[in-house]
Amino acid sequence: MARCRLCRSERERTPAEIYLPAHRLPLCRKHFLSWFERYLERTIRTFRMFTRRERILVAVSGGKDSLTLWQALVNLGYEADGLFVYLGIEENSFSLLSRRAVEAMAERLGRPLHVVDMKSELGFTIPDLRRKTRKYCSMCGTVKRHYLNSLAKRLGYSVIVTGHNLDDEASSLLGNLLNWNLKYLSRKYPVLPAERGFVRKAKPLCRHYERDIRLYAELRRLPYLAESCPLSEEAIRPFYAELMDRLEERAPGTKLRFYLDYLRKALPLFAEHKEEFMERDLVVCERCGEPAVGSPCLVCRLREEFGGAGT
Ligand code: AMP
Ligand code: FES
Ligand code: ZN
Ligand code: ZN
Repeated sequence: MARCRLCRSERERTPAEIYLPAHRLPLCRKHFLSWFERYLERTIRTFRMFTRRERILVAVSGGKDSLTLWQALVNLGYEADGLFVYLGIEENSFSLLSRRAVEAMAERLGRPLHVVDMKSELGFTIPDLRRKTRKYCSMCGTVKRHYLNSLAKRLGYSVIVTGHNLDDEASSLLGNLLNWNLKYLSRKYPVLPAERGFVRKAKPLCRHYERDIRLYAELRRLPYLAESCPLSEEAIRPFYAELMDRLEERAPGTKLRFYLDYLRKALPLFAEHKEEFMERDLVVCERCGEPAVGSPCLVCRLREEFGGAGT
């Protein structure tokens, strides 16, 4: 069996239990965990995402990616707190179990967790929305982004981070390229600056493979929920994800190269024309003060239409 590359440099001879094909790196468990966190630190620095002097809000869903991100950031000494949006999805007790997972994680880390309860904020839940419209899944994303942004501003966080990983980024890049979706392509960067009422956003796990994140979560015994949303209708995305998996199988490292070379070589060309592709008519919602494409914003309109109550 191969020896751990990092033990070897310490003149030990521990066998490597873990092999990272994309990095051609054999590692023991201990060094996998330290490599994982150092690699995260390098991503944060390379893309100038945030510093240790800033307060960070981690969007936590209860899944392995966001809980891993929270744990690794805290281990690296970042001041990172959690925000969970309770969506009221009762199928398979999904929201309840997700909530338990994020609460257990907050307790383990000894960090504050903010919980937004959609029902009490808006007067309706995602299942309520689903009974009325087929677009509930994309609306769910809008609702989550809305609360992340407004809460981060209200509570004084400088940056919002999400658990999107390399597999997510590579497959959505493929989808956006196949459809020449220039608006997304020109903004597909792992950190977006604070502008026009939006708080800075970053995806610090953008260079980490999903498989490595799962391994980290398991080795650290994080209390994550393995099930994904029972209502999500990912018809097209898993297909692109599957295609990327097949490419990766043939040539390990493909996802990483595809994504990083895009950022380095192609994005600057699209980004030059960013203003032309952007929603130029962004306004401030007269009800809630959040940036939106129209006023009242979608969240305020939904609240009025479906919920009625609350502010
Ligand atoms: P997904 O689109 O479900 O893969 O989620 C992508 C990222 O969004 C996750 O890694 C989290 O950072 C964030 N997220 C998803 N669901 C929630 C939630 N209910 N509350 C807060 N953040 C969430
Ligand atoms: Fe939003 Fe499933 S998490 S619809
Ligand atoms: Zn080692
Ligand atoms: Zn609004």
